[in-house]
Amino acid sequence: MTYEFDKDDLKKIEQIKAKYPEVMPATLPVLWLAQEKFGHVEPDVQRLVANTLDLPEAHVHGVATFYTQYYKKKKGKHVLDVCTCLSCQLCGGYDILHYIEEKLGIKAGETTDDGMFSVEEVECLGACGYAPMLQVTNDKYVNHLTKEKVDQLIDNLKEGKDPEYEQIEMPLRNVD
Ligand code: FES
Repeated sequence: MTYEFDKDDLKKIEQIKAKYPEVMPATLPVLWLAQEKFGHVEPDVQRLVANTLDLPEAHVHGVATFYTQYYKKKKGKHVLDVCTCLSCQLCGGYDILHYIEEKLGIKAGETTDDGMFSVEEVECLGACGYAPMLQVTNDKYVNHLTKEKVDQLIDNLKEGKDPEYEQIEMPLRNVD
C-alpha cells in the first residue's frame, strides 16, 4: 500500500512546522497526524513522515519506536493497553491482562480476527494510584479494574458506546 498526505494534510503539516524554530520537534505531531489518518505508523508511514519533513528516516523511526502511543503495526479498532508495571502488577494487573486475553481469545500484542480489539501489555501509564488500570486507544483510562469492569468495558465498546471510566479527580491544592 502506498501512503500519501493530501493537500489538507500538507497544509496542517506546514502549520505544525511553523510553530517550531526548526523542523525536528515537528516529528511528534506529524507522526500523530499520520497515525490519525492511517491508523498506524508502520515503517512506510514513518518513511512518508521523514520525506515530508526532510528528516532522516532513522530519526523518525527512533521517535516512533520510543513511544508506545504510536502504533508500529496495524491495530484493532480498540486498543487495550493493560498496565502490568509495579503498582498495577501488585494489584492484579496480570490477572486482568490474562482475563482479557482469555475473553478475547488473543495474547498481548495480537488483534482479534474481526479487527475489533488489540491487547497490549504496557509500562506505567502514570495512574498508579488507580491500579490496576488500562488505557483505551490512547484515550480514556479505566481504573481500579475488576473482571466485571472488563466485561462491561468490552460490551460497551462492542456496542459502540464510550467506555465507562472513573474520572481522575485532582485534589484541591492549597497554594498559600
Ligand atoms: Fe500501572 Fe503506574 S504502575 S499506572
